[in-house]
Amino acid sequence: MGKNKAVIGTQWGDEGKGKIIDWLSEDADGIVRFQGANNAGHSAIITLEGITHSLKYNLIPSGYAHHGKWNLMAAGEMIDLAHLVKEQKLVFNELEGRVGELLLDLRACVTIPYHIGLDKANNAHIGTTNRGVGPAHEDRAGRRAIRILDFENPETLKQKIIENTLHANHLLLIGKNHVEQYDPNKVFDEVMEAYQKVKGFTKIIDGKRFLAERVNVDNQTVLFELSQGYMLDNILGTFPMVTSSRTIASEVTAGTGVYIELDNRIGVVKAYTTRVGNGHFTTELTDDIGRRIQEVGKEVGTTTGRTRRCGWVDLVPIYDGDITNKYTELNLTKLDVLTGIPTIKVCTAYELDGSKIEFIPPNLSDYERVKPVYIELPGWTQDITGVRDFDKLPQNAQRYVDKIENLVNIPIRYIGTGPERNDMIIRN
Ligand code: IMP
Repeated sequence: MGKNKAVIGTQWGDEGKGKIIDWLSEDADGIVRFQGANNAGHSAIITLEGITHSLKYNLIPSGYAHHGKWNLMAAGEMIDLAHLVKEQKLVFNELEGRVGELLLDLRACVTIPYHIGLDKANNAHIGTTNRGVGPAHEDRAGRRAIRILDFENPETLKQKIIENTLHANHLLLIGKNHVEQYDPNKVFDEVMEAYQKVKGFTKIIDGKRFLAERVNVDNQTVLFELSQGYMLDNILGTFPMVTSSRTIASEVTAGTGVYIELDNRIGVVKAYTTRVGNGHFTTELTDDIGRRIQEVGKEVGTTTGRTRRCGWVDLVPIYDGDITNKYTELNLTKLDVLTGIPTIKVCTAYELDGSKIEFIPPNLSDYERVKPVYIELPGWTQDITGVRDFDKLPQNAQRYVDKIENLVNIPIRYIGTGPERNDMIIRN
């Protein structure tokens, strides 16, 4: 019987999901992306025949580096065709062609160049990745979006793109920031050219039927890879400072079209917290410790190159996200980054208007007023890079992990102790 696993971000994305996804994809027959877009960035460092490769994925599922596996970009993922061409080329060249199979659901909607313009024109206050993902989702909800299957009929597609470009140009005229108008014919030529290239390395299929057969008939093991994190969920996160897709485990079914029983829902938690883009960040550190975490943790965005804001680990998003995702286990990443900090704080609750709360207030103005309630734990100085055995961690590092585990009441099964693929403790 196949096992279905989902890897879910518990914070504001960038928890370091790429490593566990790459690790777990080894035991999977196939890997699926089904929400988000190329606003996401998953990194994996892998060694093949003694050579280390550093890979960056935005749209492509992270199993692509494993020859013999299928990788599905399902209906719910927003696809920037031109970006997909560039991304695939980089990974393909890095691995000298030893890649898996890439599949794309014909229901998936696409990001068109004017979406990027609209993002820049209207969403600067959110601090988006400027990849056009929000405006592309607006078009999907507005039922104007272009889908992959539309490319089968270029005449009708051209007409749709002309109409949509004129609509986008109108919105750009009244946008908050000035962005140039788009030429509809040029837009059509650009996306059509990218689509032809994508067809050269991707099989376009009915992803729903494909996945249903793999899961329900062949009993295959499938890994579902989420991007972003719970706090960026379009409905449950810190709205409106969120992304445009759903970032929760149940999106597995909504974004693929196949009912999936998840055997494991693995929540990924960085040993501290980071946030890119704007919005309140309760445990943010703007002092030397924050700068040190940023430097040691190399906290620079995979997608946009922006530096990430850093702070202490905050358990409230985990309590809150657990109600939605019911994590079966956690992966605590980048524990090694905290080495050398004399006293480490853990936020265990918030204080709001004199009351202690353990949830994310739905109203942003309340959330902006919460104060962190901290406990303090002693740090450790011994280098833990590459430790693979929990008992070999310094006592205080063990205590840090155990304390978090007890407070959230979810087993911490995987612990990251360095950037390399094998720098990980696995506890049973
Ligand atoms: P958008 O998804 O580009 O619209 O950006 C909305 C918000 O989500 C911004 O604060 C982004 O920085 C953030 N965001 C989107 N994708 C990611 C991600 O993969 N990691 C971290 N933050 C992200």
